[in-house]
Amino acid sequence: MTSRRQFLSTATTAAFATSSFHIFGADTGKKYRTALIGSGWWGMNILKEAIAHGRVKVCALCDASEDVMSNAGDEVNSLNGDEPKLYQDYRELLDKEKPEIVIIGTPDHWHALQSIAACQAGAHVYVEKPTGHTINESKAMVKAAQKAGVVVQVGLHRRIGPHHVEAMNFLKSGAVGKVEKVRAFVLSKGGPEQPKPNSKVPEGMDWDLWCGPAPVRPFNTKIAPGGWRGFLDYANGTMADWGVHWLDQILWWSGEKGPKKITCTGGREVAGPPVLNEKEQTTDAPDHQEATFEFEGFTATWEHRKTPEPPSDKHKIGTCFYGEKGMLHIGWRDGWSFYPTNPKEGEKHGDHKLQEPDGHNIALLWKDFIDAIEKKRAPVADIESAHRSSCLPLLGMLSYKARRSIQWDPVKEEIIGDAEASKLMGREYRKPWAYPV
Ligand SMILES: NC(=O)c1ccc[n+]([C@@H]2O[C@H](COP(=O)([O-])OP(=O)(O)OC[C@H]3O[C@@H](n4cnc5c(N)ncnc54)[C@H](O)[C@@H]3O)[C@@H](O)[C@H]2O)c1
Repeated sequence: MTSRRQFLSTATTAAFATSSFHIFGADTGKKYRTALIGSGWWGMNILKEAIAHGRVKVCALCDASEDVMSNAGDEVNSLNGDEPKLYQDYRELLDKEKPEIVIIGTPDHWHALQSIAACQAGAHVYVEKPTGHTINESKAMVKAAQKAGVVVQVGLHRRIGPHHVEAMNFLKSGAVGKVEKVRAFVLSKGGPEQPKPNSKVPEGMDWDLWCGPAPVRPFNTKIAPGGWRGFLDYANGTMADWGVHWLDQILWWSGEKGPKKITCTGGREVAGPPVLNEKEQTTDAPDHQEATFEFEGFTATWEHRKTPEPPSDKHKIGTCFYGEKGMLHIGWRDGWSFYPTNPKEGEKHGDHKLQEPDGHNIALLWKDFIDAIEKKRAPVADIESAHRSSCLPLLGMLSYKARRSIQWDPVKEEIIGDAEASKLMGREYRKPWAYPV
């Protein structure tokens, strides 16, 4: 544990704490001892919603960077007056604080080890998406949650987002007719990627711990904070980062366990070849990728790229369901839209309903999480279904890396007849970290 920080204890802070508690009804019901592991941008977005909901006592914060956790501690203190203890090592935190709830907002390569450890410590877990960095990590997360009998909510907040629910009800009502094809996509802009010089590890940052079970690359501000999404050692690029939300809509709609066959291609034709040397580096994730997922009864595709779309195509992100009666698009800030096959029937539209500044639905997902704990029920983005949704981009990435189609048994969750590709369901861990079973 780093030295216990000095916390503000001004009258203003106390006054804010009191008033905010009453505003959010915190004085009704139990307060859960809650810890946050990974106190950066998104971790704090979740914790702020948890505080606003009023049912947590923030007992501890953890981050590989002392500055990040110290700032997070100040913010918590100014929000509700709690004085969380600060830890760089999550194992020490779990051991000493024994939290009832653990929120995990670390990069993807850490999700499995930390959420499994939190489950084993008996905590309910709110972990960010995608569940794992590799498929077998994600399977181990499911097992750990089941064995511990705790609630695990995964940050797929679009499962409860009002405009998503509205669109999904419309789709499930049969208004789109029989769906033959689904297309999930993120289209953005980009050009050739310039390498960035590596730099000194910032003071107070434990870079070895940040890299953890993954290979240690030279520190570079392209990687942390946030940029790790584009580095395959720590994440799986746009398809797993953004794509998991949009691919999740497909399993939510269909109730399928998974596809039978996956084929994925892609590359870095625009970004250029990856660079990694002692002086500088670029990302190494593909700048464009196309994946086809063959399901029983329909085909789904994923596409992301950084080259322009004709101006007429107004949807740049989301999931399109192509049915006999028309096409339904479920998007982000553009809400949902239905384009009937017969134009005389008129287009239908639902505006987005999101929380700002970052356009999410965390408050609803958090409320559902607490309710699930109290009612001993599965939450809306429970670990089993979020695991299956996370497997879609992970299988896409596996096919991309193996450079061939993958036959998948969605019930046994095994690759059929390809021992070489099956190895890519796991990865080698850097010692002393052990791959979860
Ligand atoms: N659900 C959503 O819509 C959504 C949106 C954004 C981000 N996310 C997810 O949130 C997570 C965090 O993303 P971010 O953008 O905030 O990343 P970030 O890099 O800004 O923050 C991650 C933090 O984790 C810390 N960290 C790294 N290793 C650690 C360790 N071993 N122990 C403790 N802390 C450690 C880092 O120092 C950093 O402060 C990711 O899983 C991301 O996919 C989800």
